[in-house]
Parts: sequence; structure tokens; C-alpha cells
Amino acid sequence: MRIDLVPLGAGELTYEIRNIVNVADKLQKCGVRINWENIGDPVAKGEIIPSWMKEIVVKAIMDDSTWGYCHTRGVLETREYICEATNSRGGAQITPDDIIFFNGLGDAIAKVYGCLRPGARVLMPSPSYTTHTVGEIYHAQSAPSLFRLKPEDKWYPDIDEMRMHVRYNPNIAAILIINPDNPTGMVYTREMLEEIVAVARENDLFIIADEVYTNIVYNGEKTVPLCDVIGDVPAISMRGISKELPWPGSRCGWIEVYNGDKDEDFRKYVNLILTGKMNEVCSTTLPQTVFPAIMEHPEYASYLGERIARYEKMSNITYDYLSRIPALQVNRTNGAFYMAVAFKEGLLNNKQSIPIANSEVNDFIQNLINQPGVSPDKRFVYHILAATGICVVPLSSFSTPLQGFRVTLLEKDENECRRIYHTLTEKIDEYLNS
Ligand SMILES: Cc1ncc(COP(=O)(O)O)c(C=O)c1O
Repeated sequence: MRIDLVPLGAGELTYEIRNIVNVADKLQKCGVRINWENIGDPVAKGEIIPSWMKEIVVKAIMDDSTWGYCHTRGVLETREYICEATNSRGGAQITPDDIIFFNGLGDAIAKVYGCLRPGARVLMPSPSYTTHTVGEIYHAQSAPSLFRLKPEDKWYPDIDEMRMHVRYNPNIAAILIINPDNPTGMVYTREMLEEIVAVARENDLFIIADEVYTNIVYNGEKTVPLCDVIGDVPAISMRGISKELPWPGSRCGWIEVYNGDKDEDFRKYVNLILTGKMNEVCSTTLPQTVFPAIMEHPEYASYLGERIARYEKMSNITYDYLSRIPALQVNRTNGAFYMAVAFKEGLLNNKQSIPIANSEVNDFIQNLINQPGVSPDKRFVYHILAATGICVVPLSSFSTPLQGFRVTLLEKDENECRRIYHTLTEKIDEYLNS
């Protein structure tokens, strides 16, 4: 090509959450039975969608208006419904014009970073859900600024480090929090949120809060949504239905803009995001249309409650197994459905291995792990996958130097969950002592 097509640094971007699926698919063809502990899709993990929910969707689909475009910002009645829920909490007050629907939060994330001036950066947690870091790196075309979530302290954020970044990097325009968090399952406390809002207020920044898991909390935890503590600081909250209903295939999520009129620059930026959506006309109409009816259905609360109770149980079983291994830093999760586990520093190396019985699988995996630049945790994850069929994601693929892995807590069968984590603990031991 006459000129470079690919932005600087783009070669380093891989989406390992999906990449590992290609490897597992290949192993499946070689006869390996896979346990998909990498997937954040409850439906793919066998969640049964209740008939009352399907009936609401079927009724809506018989109404021709759900086949048409909707308002660029989204279906008005649904935005009014969401406004009422947010405003009734007594914190940030919004109008339907402060809400924009997207084709899933993935779409919202791409637009929110894509509309920033390339030099304006968003400070991100490390580890961090990949779509955010990849979106931010694509927009800025350079390495992200990260604040640490501390594995030694329940994965809580290092707010001192956050302050240092903000003080010494004048390009930081915003701070991202994911609450409850993917990949760690940590839930921010009210005090932490208030402190982060104070950092933003003192430094003239805005906040982005990915709150897609806001209603999925357990172990006695309660989420404090950003709207409760934001005060007069400009912010964007991201919400969606992929995890909660769950309906990831609907591609439906939205942003709520808080204090959109408090800063002229922020107002122009939000307007640019809206213009981007206008250019696409609108987002999927059907899931927006049915959202209020699903939320208000008399069985919704108990249905979600049962699922959350299951996540709590699987989380605690997983914690009980993995926390027995002294080589690992493991924390209980209190929200979302992921657990991030880090190996203590220096315990993984590029010589460890476990036997892989199937020779075709062994050849395939050896070829992958002997490529240049393969991190020790990726090497570990590929060995575990090939030897046991248990598919997890390397922690280092979540923008962190920590070596470890992330599992999901979506297994429905308690005995299978115990079998998986019993096997995993045995194999970790074998791998570390090889
Ligand atoms: C923290 C977080 N944000 C956003 C998304 C993307 O959600 P959506 O399906 O709405 O694109 C996910 C999906 O796993 C997620 O974990």
C-alpha cells in the first residue's frame, strides 16, 4: 500500500476473550470436551429464558411499529421509564434527552471513546474489561493510562495511584470505573465512589461508569449507582440488558448523561456522540420497546433473584477451591459473574508444563505456545485447556502485567462446578511443580 493502513500500535491489539474460543473450537474437533468457563453469556451457558418474557416479546413483535426505526435517542416511552427510575433515587436528575440507546454497550463504548479528541485520554482500571481498553487505544493510538485494582486488597482501586496519574498527565479527561467490575467481580464502596467523584471535581474531569452489572450483586453487597453520588460532576453511566434479562443477542444498551449542561465542552462532546448515532439513524427498536414491560412483570424480581443466588453459590464454591492454593491471590466476588485470579509474582515461568495425552492436541498447543511473545499465563491457560478441556482467559489479556486467569461463574450444575474447580486446583499444583 502507498501509505500505512494500520494505526501505530494496532498490531498489539488482540481480543483474547474471543481468541481462546478459536483455540478451544479446534481442540473440540480433536475430541476434547470443553468446559466454557470463558464465556460471559448466560444464554450460551444454558440459561432458560422464561416463557412470560418470551410472550412479551412475541406480543411486541406482532405490533408493526417494532419493525420500524425509532427515535435516534431511542423509544421515548422507554427513555421516560428509565428517567423515572433514575430520578426517583433522588440523586442526578435527567430527562429523556439525557439518554441515548445503542446497539449493545459494545457500540456505546466504541462511540464514547471514538468521539473524544485523540489527545484526550480516559484513565482506566487495570485489569480492565477489554472492550474499554481496546476502544480507548483505537481512539488514542497509544498505550492506555491505567490505575491498579489491588489483588492484595479485594481488587479495590488504588485511588492514590489514580490521583498521581491525574496530577501528572494533563491529557486525562475522564476516569472509567466498571461497577460491579469485569474481570474481578469487585463492587466499589460508596466511600470509594465519593472519593473518585471528588478527584474528578477537583481536576475538572468527567466520569464514565460502566454499570451493566449494577443489579447483579450478592454476598450481602449493594451497588451504589453513580447517579447517587455524582453531585454536579459531568458523567456518563452505561447500562444494558445483555447480562440482566439476559438478552445479549438483542444488542441493546444505553447511556445516561448526568450534568450534561454543567460544562460547555462536555455538552458539545455528548452532542457529537448523538450526531454519530443520528448518522446511523437509531438502534434496535424491539428490545427497547419491551424493556419496561419485562422489568415491571410480577415475576421479574424473583427470576433475577434466583439467578443471583446461583451466581453467589457458584462464586463461593469457586472461591473455596481456588483460595486453597497458596500460589494464588484470590478474592471473593460480590457482583457480576467473573472471578480474576493472579499468580503470586514470579511463580509462573516458560518451562512449566503438564502432559497432554492427545498427540494431535499436543502438537497444536506446542506450536501456539512456542510463538514469540507468549506470556506465561497464556502458556498456562493453553496447557490447562489442552489437558483438561477447561477454557479460561489469561489475566494478562485484561490490560494488566499480572499473570493469572479469569473464570466465569455461570456454570448451572453445582456438581459440575465442583468437578471443574477440583480438576483445576489439581492441575495448577501439577503445573507449578513441573
Ligand atoms: C463490563 C462490560 N461492559 C460492556 C459489555 C458489553 O455488553 P453488550 O452486550 O451490551 O455489548 C460487557 C460484556 O461482557 C461487559 O462485561
